[in-house]
Amino acid sequence: MSNTDQTLANLLQEDRRFEPPAELAAHANLTAEAYDRAAADREGFWAAQAERITWAEPFTQVLDWSNPPFAKWYVGGKLNAAYNCVDRHVEAGRGDKVAIHFVGEPVGDTRSITYAELQDLVSQAANALTDLGVEAGDRVAIYMPMIPEAVVTMLACARIGAPHTVVFGGFSSDALASRLEDCQAKVVVTADGGYRRGAASALKPAVDEARTKAETLGHTVEKVLVVRRTGQDLGENGWDDAVDVWWHDAVDSASTQHTPEAFDAEHPLYVMYTSGTTGKPKGILHTTGGYLVGCSYTHWAVFDLKDDDVYWCTADIGWVTGHSYIVYGPLANGVTQVLYEGTPDSPERGRWWDVIEQHGVTIFYTAPTAIRSFMKQGREIPDARDLSSLRLLGSVGEPINPEAYVWYRHVIGGDRTPVVDTWWQTETGSIMISPLPGVTAGKPGSAMIPIPGVAADVVDEEGTPVPNGSGGYLVLTEPWPSMLRTIWGDDERFKETYWARFAKQGYYFAGDGAKKDSDGDLWVLGRVDDVMNVSGHRLSTTEIESALVSHPKVAEAAVVGAKDEDTGQAVCAFVILRESALDSGASDGGDDIVAELRKHVRKEIGPIATPRQIMVVPELPKTRSGKIMRRLLRDVAENREIGDVTTLADSSVMDLISSGLSGGKGDE
Ligand code: WT7
Repeated sequence: MSNTDQTLANLLQEDRRFEPPAELAAHANLTAEAYDRAAADREGFWAAQAERITWAEPFTQVLDWSNPPFAKWYVGGKLNAAYNCVDRHVEAGRGDKVAIHFVGEPVGDTRSITYAELQDLVSQAANALTDLGVEAGDRVAIYMPMIPEAVVTMLACARIGAPHTVVFGGFSSDALASRLEDCQAKVVVTADGGYRRGAASALKPAVDEARTKAETLGHTVEKVLVVRRTGQDLGENGWDDAVDVWWHDAVDSASTQHTPEAFDAEHPLYVMYTSGTTGKPKGILHTTGGYLVGCSYTHWAVFDLKDDDVYWCTADIGWVTGHSYIVYGPLANGVTQVLYEGTPDSPERGRWWDVIEQHGVTIFYTAPTAIRSFMKQGREIPDARDLSSLRLLGSVGEPINPEAYVWYRHVIGGDRTPVVDTWWQTETGSIMISPLPGVTAGKPGSAMIPIPGVAADVVDEEGTPVPNGSGGYLVLTEPWPSMLRTIWGDDERFKETYWARFAKQGYYFAGDGAKKDSDGDLWVLGRVDDVMNVSGHRLSTTEIESALVSHPKVAEAAVVGAKDEDTGQAVCAFVILRESALDSGASDGGDDIVAELRKHVRKEIGPIATPRQIMVVPELPKTRSGKIMRRLLRDVAENREIGDVTTLADSSVMDLISSGLSGGKGDE
C-alpha cells in the first residue's frame, strides 16, 4: 500500500500539460458543451447518439432499468449490425471507399478491400455459414490470425444473428476447448495458420485437439471452416471430411446476395471470454443495439474521426479492443483502416512505422507495453521513417506511465498529436474515461474524466465518493448502452462480480483502483482484485495457479503479478513441489523443473500466461484461516522489504521463502 502511495505521490507531481492543437479544437467532433448537455439529460443524449445507427425499426424507450443490473437499451428497436457496418455505406454511394488495407506479415503481401467488396464477402460468408447449419442464436467460435477473413466472419455471424466468440489465436487448445464447451459453439472458423515472427504458425491442429477435448467434456462441434492462409501441412490426421470444410470451397462459391435480417436491439452479438478472480474465464455478453451505438459514438468522439482519416488499431481481434475498435466502431463509422497480421518487429523493428508511412495513417491506437518496448529500442528506428501523417495517438490496456506518454507524443507524434489515454474494459464494451482531443489539455498519465454520457466516480469502502486528492475504487454510477448484459450462462456470477460490492448505491464495480488528483482528474492505478495485467492482457492468478497444480510435480502454487518495466505486470509463481518430485531429484528447484513448469503453463493457457519467474519454495505464507497472503509474495517478487506479517499463521515462513529463493528467469 505504501508503495502505491509513493507511486501516486510521484505521479501527481506531474505538471506537464498539452493543449489541444488549435486546428483540431476548431473542428472537433465533440466540444466542451457536450459534457453539460449529456449530464443534464443522459438518456436524451444517448437517444441522440443512437441516430448514428440505421434502425430497421425505431426504439420506443431508450433505457429499461426496471430490473437492475439487467439493462435493456433501445427497447423495441431492431437493427442488423453487419448492415450498419457495411451495406449502408455502399447504399450511401461510398462502395468504392477502402474499408480495409490489409497488410500481411510477409512484406508485400497486401490487399485493399472496398466497402462494396466487403459487402460481397460478408454476404458470401453469411450464406456459407447458413449452409453449414448455423441459425440465428447459434454460437460460432472464431480462432484466426489477423486476416480479413476474421473480420468478414465476425460480420457474417452478426448478419445472421449468430453470436460469435473470438478466441485469441495465442491461446492453447485447452483454453479453446473450455470456451467451445462453455458457449456450446456449433461451428469453428479457423485457418491453417497465420504468419508470426517471419514464420507460418499453425492454428488448425489446435482446433482439432480442442474439438477432441470438447468431446470429452460432452460437447460436439459440428463443422470447422478453414481458411487457407499459409498453405502449411495439416499433418497426418489433419483433415476430417465429415467436419472440416475449406473456406475457398464453401465461401468463394456462395452467392454475394444476402438479405440481412433485423434483430432486436438486445439480441446477443457476441461473447468475449475474460479472466476473473476464479479459474474459470467469464463469458462477457454484449448485445446489438447499445453496443453498436457505444462503439460508434466513442470511436467518432474520442478519435475525432473525419472522413479522410486512415485509422490503425494494433490490437488483435481476439481481444475486446479488436471487436470494438477494429470491427464494430470503425466499420459502423465507415472508416478506412489498416489491418496488420504480424508482430511489430518482423522482418525488422521498424515494421509498424513502415506501415504508417506507406499507408499515411492519421490515427494510431496501441498499448503502453508496445510503446515502452519501442522506447527501449531507441528513437532512431521511428526517426528514420516519415510519420508526419499522424494527427492523433491513442493508448489502451493499462496505465500509461508519464514518460511513455511523453515519448509517444514527442517521438511518434512529432509533438503535434494529442494522446488519448482511454480507460475501459471488456465489460464496458467501449471507452468510458478519456480526454477529448479537441477539448482536454492532456496530462501525461491521467485518463482524465468520463466522456460525455458516462458517469464514473472513485469511492471508498462504503461507496462514498472520495474527495479530490484521494484514492479508492473506480465505479460507474449510471448504466451505459454498451454495458455487458450478463456473464454467459451465469447471471448470479454477473451480479456477484460487478454489482454486489456497491449494491446499496447500484454502482458498477470495475475492479480497478483509482485516484482523483487535485483537479478531480482520474488516475487509474490497476486492479484491486486477484487479476493481473500483463502487456494490457488480463490474466487471473487463480487460472494460472490451477494450471500449475495440474502438473503432477506440483503440490501447491500461488501466483502474483509483479511490477515489470516492459509488460506493466509480469506473472510470478511460487510453487511447492510434491515429495515424489523432490525425491526424483528436482529438490533444488533447478532450471529443469522451472523450464518444465513454464512450458506446462504455456500449453495449458498460452504463451502470454508463461511465468516470468517461478520460485520453488518449501511453504507458502498463509493466514490462520488458510488464505494465501499474496501481498507478501508480491513484496518478494518485487524485491521489497516484506510487509506486515502479523496475520501469518507461521511467521517463520517468510524467512524460509526469502532465504531459499531459487528460480528461473527467461523471457520466452
Ligand atoms: C482492464 C481491462 C480496454 C481494452 C483492453 C483491456 C486496464 C485498460 C486502461 C487505461 C489504466 C487500463 C484496467 C481495466 N486498463 N485501459 N487506459 N488506464 N488501466 O481490456 O482485458 O477487459 O482489461 O485493463 O485495469 O480494468 P480488459
